[in-house]
Amino acid sequence: MSTLALLELRGVGKSYGSHRVLSDFNLKVQPGEIVSLIGPSGSGKTTALRCMNFLEAYDEGEIWIDGQLLGYSGPERGPAHQDSDAAIAEVRRPVSMVFQQFNLWPHMSVRENVMAPLVLGKRLGKYEARRLADDALARVGLAAKAESYPSRLSGGQQQRVGIARALAVKPRLMLLDEPTSALDPELVEEVLQVIRGLAMDGMTMVMVTHEMSFAAQISNQVIFMEAGSIVEAGAPGCLFNNPGTGRLAQFLKPWFNRSLTPRAEARQ
Ligand SMILES: Nc1ncnc2c1ncn2[C@@H]1O[C@H](COP(=O)(O)OP(=O)(O)OP(=O)(O)O)[C@@H](O)[C@H]1O
Ligand SMILES: [Mg+2]
Repeated sequence: MSTLALLELRGVGKSYGSHRVLSDFNLKVQPGEIVSLIGPSGSGKTTALRCMNFLEAYDEGEIWIDGQLLGYSGPERGPAHQDSDAAIAEVRRPVSMVFQQFNLWPHMSVRENVMAPLVLGKRLGKYEARRLADDALARVGLAAKAESYPSRLSGGQQQRVGIARALAVKPRLMLLDEPTSALDPELVEEVLQVIRGLAMDGMTMVMVTHEMSFAAQISNQVIFMEAGSIVEAGAPGCLFNNPGTGRLAQFLKPWFNRSLTPRAEARQ
């Protein structure tokens, strides 16, 4: 018997004016699965991810979260047919997002940043919100920084706060948009380590990433996109070791070259 997908996209499309940036996007994510979206700049990865929680309104197809249609109730698409904000918020309740640029409030302490969606979004009392925020901060190894302000933290620490804020609402699905690409290289690993921990705890995740070896290690499915479409999708062992299209092989080439060239040779 198949389980209900936590997230399902069926024939999803999105245009900005006459520019179609996403077309016929299909994806099924089962609870506990990790999906990586890869592809060249401008291929529509962020747009696809933002459609998954209706931060961008899709205008073709269907997106289902835990068996509920997101954004629309009927067959029509477009701004005039969208559900109310409250109805959309209800359907996307199980989903939270981690942004590339962290998006922390500079005038709030780390704890207040993590509490914000609990107090403002979930309308929890301060005491309960504080308890959940402190739990989430402990989970990303930042309990000691609760009173600090974001400007006093490294980029890696700021992104771990971003992850704590996304975790504190107890999501069932996390969407991560290039969570390490704004970081200095030496700070990347601490964030990947936190994401690995979430994976080991069984968190369902859809992640846009340029960290190919990380995607290969962590994902159940990898989706390679170009020009708004899925070019290839499958298990990472298959996709990375045996690309089915010249386009994916070409996209992966720099990464293989980098990771396989011995240091001494690279210096010559
Ligand atoms: N708000 C917008 N208005 C108009 N066009 C947009 C908007 N957001 C994205 N686009 C266009 O949609 C296409 C896909 O953009 P998107 O940001 O999803 O790509 P991406 O794969 O995430 O790229 P990157 O790897 O650079 O982050 C691009 O051509 C982009 O210019
Ligand atoms: Mg992007």
